Amino acid sequence: MDLILETRGLSKRFGGLVAVDNVDIRLGKGELRCIIGPNGCGKTTFFNLITGNLKPSSGRVIFRGTDITGWAVHDISQLGICRKFQVPSIFEGLTVFENMRVPYYARAKPSIFGRAQLAKNVNAEIMGHLERVNLADHAHELAKNLAHGQKQWLEIGMVLASRPSLMLLDEPTAGMTVAETKLTAELVRKISEETDLSILVIEHDLSFVKEVALKVTVMYKGAIFREGIYDEIQEDREIRDIYLGRHR
Ligand SMILES: Nc1ncnc2c1ncn2[C@@H]1O[C@H](COP(=O)(O)OP(=O)(O)OP(=O)(O)O)[C@@H](O)[C@H]1O
Ligand SMILES: [Mg+2]
Repeated sequence: MDLILETRGLSKRFGGLVAVDNVDIRLGKGELRCIIGPNGCGKTTFFNLITGNLKPSSGRVIFRGTDITGWAVHDISQLGICRKFQVPSIFEGLTVFENMRVPYYARAKPSIFGRAQLAKNVNAEIMGHLERVNLADHAHELAKNLAHGQKQWLEIGMVLASRPSLMLLDEPTAGMTVAETKLTAELVRKISEETDLSILVIEHDLSFVKEVALKVTVMYKGAIFREGIYDEIQEDREIRDIYLGRHR
């Protein structure tokens, strides 16, 4: 398997608490993987270690063959790992379309003569991304007027606009209605099928996981508890007990 991301013995301690415990994960190029696990089991901390928001206590992070352990957030995102946080961080006072332009202009520094051409190409690309995230019809609406689910989609669109090779989504369906959750699952699966992006999704909602994931990594108390396809995970009694708080 051609790997895009690998962690080796990745750990993070906060004082006496081991938030991430010796995690080895191997994600293939183009793979779509869900990470599930109960509250506080270390999922977001694991993402923070990949993106450079936190430095690991021990272990390595390898991205496309490069050891990026300890790199700065900015350098890691430049290299192609882009992330959507648990809480949406869009610009409420801008339109949907203007929000989508932000990642382009943050990245590109074209000459004055190149700007017009850039704008033309970018506009077409943005509309393509907006189609993908179900927002093409809302391009000229102010972001603050979007429904909660649509704001989350806009943020996924902005991640796409930054042209990553690995996209990390932290609970993209948080606070969504059942209908929005289903649409989000379809949208993520479609992005995975139609692009060569690799995607890691942290998700609590098992209906979402069922809809999108081939492979699921289950975390528990900072460590990997199981890895398998959804059907295996769903039938696993110990995993059900973890979710119901019955596991010791
Ligand atoms: N900066 C920090 N300082 C100290 N403890 C932290 C810090 N960040 C996280 N923790 C602790 O590490 C553990 C893992 O937290 P984390 O946020 O990674 O869990 P999670 O699986 O993402 O949970 P949730 O499902 O609620 O989002 C928790 O016990 C949390 O309180
Ligand atoms: Mg979290």
